[in-house]
Amino acid sequence: MRIEDICTHFGDDHGRYLGAAVPPIFQNSLFVDYDGKDQVTNADGDRYTYSRIANPTVEGAEAMIAALEGGETARCFSSGMGAVSAAMMKWVEKDCHVICVRHAYGPARNFLDWLGTKFGVRTSFVTGTDIEEMSACVSPQTRLIYLESPSTYVFSIQDLKAVAELAGRHGIRTVIDNTWATPVFQNPLSFGIDMVVHSCSKYLGGHSDIVGGVIIGRSADLRAMTETERAYLGNSMDPNTAWLLQRGLRTLHLRMDRHQENATRVASFLEQHPAVERVVYPGLPSYPQRELAQEQMRGASGVFSFSLRGDPQQTRAFIDRLTWFQKGPSWGGFESLIGGISLDDAGRRYTSFGSSGLRVSVGLENADTLIEDLDRSLAEVPL
Ligand SMILES: Cc1ncc(COP(=O)(O)O)c(C=O)c1O
Repeated sequence: MRIEDICTHFGDDHGRYLGAAVPPIFQNSLFVDYDGKDQVTNADGDRYTYSRIANPTVEGAEAMIAALEGGETARCFSSGMGAVSAAMMKWVEKDCHVICVRHAYGPARNFLDWLGTKFGVRTSFVTGTDIEEMSACVSPQTRLIYLESPSTYVFSIQDLKAVAELAGRHGIRTVIDNTWATPVFQNPLSFGIDMVVHSCSKYLGGHSDIVGGVIIGRSADLRAMTETERAYLGNSMDPNTAWLLQRGLRTLHLRMDRHQENATRVASFLEQHPAVERVVYPGLPSYPQRELAQEQMRGASGVFSFSLRGDPQQTRAFIDRLTWFQKGPSWGGFESLIGGISLDDAGRRYTSFGSSGLRVSVGLENADTLIEDLDRSLAEVPL
């Protein structure tokens, strides 16, 4: 099935739901035994028992996301971090070694540090842009390589095929955070990556009204996780959230196209403005890893970074004058957002506003409106 057809019709089963055009929300914690000739079973072939283990509404969203990513199975979690931490827990062992890209989402990195303190897990943080550097870190204890491509602070990308080959040679598992590209623009499993995670709180939901996460991968791995990492840690997605997620997914392809169109126009405007020092957007011809980006992605979403020539006070004044870009920490929703990013030498983000770099999430407003807003604000703050 093509992406547009998966988003609009995957899993349609009108006969199961009295002909309802949209599946209902199974807002129930438990399922009781009943005598039925046509006993319905869950995605693992078992009777439904309890919604922490399996729920039909959650399974509807999972099946759609698995199809979009080209994976065997998906499992939804109560947040993106719920999915990230469960995927890491799946592969790490006491005293093992992990390789992680330096600019990965902060709490994902911090979770590895925490596993280090608690269980002796040692992590090497690498740039991710140099396969030799990654290869030099591999040891007999390495169990996991954790990627985020593009990384959502500095927007660098990793060569997915090369990393999968390196990992395969050493029996190491690979997990990637694909939240930025979404399955519309990138399918990491097709390059040999073992597991994909997403924060559904961003583009997959797309309406800034849910917090959720998902893992896509092999059925055997995810079935095992349903009984361990998800059942024990109790981080399943709730049915209401899953229903909103599936509703968001129905327009994912349309939204991503418009995010890309708007972001390309906004990034191009900024790039030619004299007050702008640098724009890093994987969708622009000037993007440093342009060739690799075109090899492994079909497009670019709406989040990127740029910096102004002025000092932090001027940058702050610029942000404060914007009216259509709201200030907020997340991204990937319908609305445009702007925030500061600043990285220390280790690649950790340590401030949110008034720093040197800016991260923008270009929403679904009219692109001219957004450009006019930026243009006016840049004119009002002499840089
Ligand atoms: C790249 C990335 N991955 C994962 C997460 C975690 O997602 P959640 O906030 O849904 O736990 C975020 C959240 O900002 C993120 O930006």
